[in-house]
Amino acid sequence: MKGLILSGGAGTRLRPITHTSAKQLVPIANKPILFYGIEDMVVAGITDIGIVIGETGDEIRAAVGDGSALGASVTYLPQEAPLGLAHCVLIAQEFLGDDAFVMYLGDNMLEQGLTEFVERFDDRTDGAAAQILLAEVDDPRQFGVAELGPDGEVVRLVEKPSVPPSNLALVGVYLFDRHIHDAVRAIEPSPRGELEITDAIQWLIDAGHRVRHEVLAGWWIDTGKKDPLLDCNRLVLETLEPAVHGSVDGESRLDGRVVIEVGASVVRSTVRGPAIIGAGTVVADSYIGPFTSIAAGCEVVEAEIEHSVVLEGSRIAGVERVVDSLIGRDASVERSGVRPKALRLMLGDHSRVEV
Ligand code: DAU
Repeated sequence: MKGLILSGGAGTRLRPITHTSAKQLVPIANKPILFYGIEDMVVAGITDIGIVIGETGDEIRAAVGDGSALGASVTYLPQEAPLGLAHCVLIAQEFLGDDAFVMYLGDNMLEQGLTEFVERFDDRTDGAAAQILLAEVDDPRQFGVAELGPDGEVVRLVEKPSVPPSNLALVGVYLFDRHIHDAVRAIEPSPRGELEITDAIQWLIDAGHRVRHEVLAGWWIDTGKKDPLLDCNRLVLETLEPAVHGSVDGESRLDGRVVIEVGASVVRSTVRGPAIIGAGTVVADSYIGPFTSIAAGCEVVEAEIEHSVVLEGSRIAGVERVVDSLIGRDASVERSGVRPKALRLMLGDHSRVEV
């Protein structure tokens, strides 16, 4: 079986963080989201992986390389524009050949691994052409939604319906056999101009193929927005093994599940886990509260921060207290002594500030 990971597209929903960079590389517990998907595939025995890339492709290539560091062999599949999830299958046809494959959306994260999901498809005796994963959600309108028939089979799939037929959303992990290639060639673009994978799966159903489904156990997050991303960060931090690879002085305290990465230093500070402090980051005279990830090369000085994700190279100084925040790369949040006392901002397009 092969793997297909979709990491093209434009990260508009997480702007401005992803104006210039790939949303699939935003870190969860200091590791890019995309790496979790690759690692799950490798654990499930899938090492031949195609990654669809778009305008942020160079950055994805730089992060993942040939995949060998993650135990995979990666082939990059450039997509000229984000023309839809089914369009990704269309352009991956040569790479996929007639093999069955797992398709994974590069901005999704699942608690459960892929192994059992993949095994159940491999061992199928019912000739199913696809296997999808569903999750109950509060607001199905922002997802693909499945309608089940009286016998529990999937009878209809609709993309982002204004009146959802159920609360069962399509999770971004799909298994297909070669019949999906006929489907993606047959369908037309949707009203939003994309070749939808939901329409391709609907085509399979209409053509008489069996489409199996499973309802997800455990959490699943489409990380393209700030709050789900912070939730996901929290859930992953809760699973970290505490480890100190950097330095912590005698006046500091680490409480609970805390990871201090190589070369990081914690001085006269309290870090209350679960939390992770990235390589080379300096935390001085500060409080890092639960559910916080500070990436590499940051400075947190005389500040308090909690339930937040801070990307590389940022500086937070003299501020109490930053909560529920996502702070991009090389950003600076600092108290200034300059009068008059005021907010002085230089914000990128689409930034959001709550004071
Ligand atoms: O997260 C689950 C949802 O993902 C499903 O419920 C929907 O049925 C499915 O259409 C999809 O909806 P989204 O609107 O969230 O998809 P998004 O545009 O965010 O793209 C998902 C991933 O695929 C993301 O990593 C970008 C990548 N992508 C997307 C498009 C449209 C590509 O690589 N190429 C593309 O053309």
